Amino acid sequence: MAFDLSWPYLIVGCIFASLARASNISDVYPPLWKESPGQFSDYKIENGKYIINFWHYPERLGTYKILLNKTAKYFAKFSPENEQNILWGLPVHHGWQYQTGRLADPTESTDCGRKSGDHLCISVDSWWADLNYYLSAMPFLAAVDSGIMGIPSDKVTFLPPPKDQMNFCYNVSSCHSSFPEAMKKWNEFYQHVKSHSSSFDDLLEYLWAAHVSSLEIARKNFHNRLKYYSKQEADFERSWALFVDYLAPPLFPTTLIRTYEFQKELPKRMLMNEDRAPFIRDFSGFQNTVLFALSVLHKVHKYTGTLSFVLWKTLMKSTVARKLFLEILEFILHSFN
Ligand SMILES: *[C@@H]1O[C@H](CO)[C@@H](O)[C@H](O)[C@H]1NC(C)=O
Ligand SMILES: *[C@@H]1O[C@H](CO)[C@@H](O)[C@H](O)[C@H]1NC(C)=O
Ligand SMILES: *[C@@H]1O[C@H](CO)[C@@H](O)[C@H](O)[C@H]1NC(C)=O
Repeated sequence: MAFDLSWPYLIVGCIFASLARASNISDVYPPLWKESPGQFSDYKIENGKYIINFWHYPERLGTYKILLNKTAKYFAKFSPENEQNILWGLPVHHGWQYQTGRLADPTESTDCGRKSGDHLCISVDSWWADLNYYLSAMPFLAAVDSGIMGIPSDKVTFLPPPKDQMNFCYNVSSCHSSFPEAMKKWNEFYQHVKSHSSSFDDLLEYLWAAHVSSLEIARKNFHNRLKYYSKQEADFERSWALFVDYLAPPLFPTTLIRTYEFQKELPKRMLMNEDRAPFIRDFSGFQNTVLFALSVLHKVHKYTGTLSFVLWKTLMKSTVARKLFLEILEFILHSFN
């Protein structure tokens, strides 16, 4: 069958093998992955609760590490080494945010996240960091709540950021009451993760539903952060958020290698006012093309209203169209890598 799922897997297997041979397999993991906490006992305990500081890169990354570890057994049926765990997309993308300086204080009033300053600090003023909070704290707490993490729901709590505390939630019960819809969607996802009868595509569907739900509120709550950035970076943020909306209907499989390959083509540093895609000197041709294509998507979307998105969603309801789109995307990525 032309759209048999096994062939993308075969490609992924080949890339894994060629990566291992050609370069450095540790490159695919987010920066400081190895050094970050990998179990609950690596965190501080106070009054019988694990205290996690989500405003410190290794601690936030560590929550992903535990999540990937605890969900590994449910994804073992899809591939060895947890490679096909679709939760990889989250930490791999977060690693890119860290590596490219996007978690630093964009107002430059503190040295939070600066290479020369408190380089592991995550700034509450960073648009990227705030959106990611909803895509790290919520999936993590919902996993605790679903019983996947092996600790009781009330045994973990997060430290608040220095400001805007009302925009965040810090434990299972407060996240449920502040963000009921998104937490419900993450819980549903984990119920399906735990179920033996779920197919890979089923899981992608629930993952993307939860992802979109988290992003929707996050975007609304942190719109005011965009003013801290250069026009080019703010435009990129808007078009990136829109692009993620478009990636959801085709159920882009956010597995380890695929996400890594994909984000290699994203801007490798913050954009400055004088940056003009596709003519940015220190970006590769493909990075320039991706950035340019994102801005075109944003313009098309703006001029057609939601029509283009509705059409896209309708088209992606067809399995054949969806698989074809994913294979084309895969093909393009490999031709340039
Ligand atoms: C692989 O990368 C790690 C960390 O970036 C580095 O320490 C190591 O020397 C690299 N190994 C090879 C073979 O390049
Ligand atoms: C999960 O973490 C534990 C403790 O660090 C480790 O022994 C185990 O091998 C890990 N499991 C997987 C599937 O990575
Ligand atoms: C959760 O956090 C809220 C406020 O953020 C607090 O009032 C409540 O006591 C906390 N619950 C638990 C179980 O820690």
